[in-house]
Amino acid sequence: MHYLDHAATTDLRPEAAEEWLRVARLTGNASSTHGAGQQARRILEESRERLAAVLECDPPEVVLTSGGTESVNLAVQGLWRSRIAPADAVVLPDAEHHATLDTAAALAAEGARVLPVPVDAVGRIPVDRFAAAVAAGGVAVATALVANNEVGTVNDAAALAHAAAGAGVPLHLDAVAALGHLPVSFHGWRGDAPAGAGLVALSVAGHKIGAPVGTGALVVARTARLAALLHGGAQQRGLRAGTQDVAGAAALAVAAERAESDRSAESARLGVLRDRLVAGILGSIPDARLLGDGDPLGRLPGNAHLLFPGAPSESLLFLLDRAGISASAGSACQAGVAEPSHVVQALGRSEAEARSVIRFSLGRTSTDADVDAVLAVIGDAYARASGR
Ligand SMILES: Cc1ncc(COP(=O)(O)O)c(C=O)c1O
Repeated sequence: MHYLDHAATTDLRPEAAEEWLRVARLTGNASSTHGAGQQARRILEESRERLAAVLECDPPEVVLTSGGTESVNLAVQGLWRSRIAPADAVVLPDAEHHATLDTAAALAAEGARVLPVPVDAVGRIPVDRFAAAVAAGGVAVATALVANNEVGTVNDAAALAHAAAGAGVPLHLDAVAALGHLPVSFHGWRGDAPAGAGLVALSVAGHKIGAPVGTGALVVARTARLAALLHGGAQQRGLRAGTQDVAGAAALAVAAERAESDRSAESARLGVLRDRLVAGILGSIPDARLLGDGDPLGRLPGNAHLLFPGAPSESLLFLLDRAGISASAGSACQAGVAEPSHVVQALGRSEAEARSVIRFSLGRTSTDADVDAVLAVIGDAYARASGR
């Protein structure tokens, strides 16, 4: 099988699996005061420290969650719910992940004003437009992707954080697609922002970096005003009640450390594979177009997102799947749902074009053989799917 959907979820790292199993076999609730509980507590806090070192934040700022969706919800809902009246607006770029879009829609139903920020033709959030939106007045929370999970475009996280800090607005960054591929620095991006403003929350998910599904974290600045979504215990600064997943935390820490130590060599390796994949597809299908930033440095190293005019995504995915190739039409949450990608439309493309895209995403186990497999079948698959 040729798995080219690492942005949906990627292989569990063997060392993360081993660590998960080792710790899962230990008995003890990290909130108990006896020896078994204290052992669990030690492993938990060491894992938090290791994760904090990767994310460049302080250990108490790491709130462990069940993954990206929970982290985004806690950040966006939590910041909005602790707003100081009359602030009521959410600054929302157009090409965010559904975890964010749907959270903002739920808050809109409760009275939040949504201030959209159009992205540019490659899917990047223009810093000047974002700065104008956060400075509009009455903003309770702003949110933005570090890197777009569909088209792979990388945003200027530091500049977005600087704009939010200047406007005195709390900002959440979704680093789910970025972690393991780009440098992520909570304190670096936060800079010397005033208390409660600028970058105050940052989301990551374990299953995108080789930790088990069901692990993740939200970094929450000490000065952030954030309402909890779960109630029932004082764990994790009262921000996320419930018995803590020590084995998940340990596996997440191992995967994050490994992803970070491999990052620069792995990004270079994936960039070469991606460029060969893109060049091969564009060479054999003159009508195909690369979406997102054409500058390799402006996009995630493993992301090749292409428009295949006239060929429905579902037909292409079916033909690729029959050839043993797993790819995607966009974010996993949309897979199987015949909805045109909102991200592709946010780039200024038509609804028909948004139904004719494929995202190939490369990862740790990707090789030249995967690229060769796609290049061997894509021309024929396009001819059949488009009827050309
Ligand atoms: C950018 C981004 N944010 C959030 C999520 C949601 O993360 P999870 O699948 O861990 O809930 C994803 C998952 O695809 C994502 O790519």
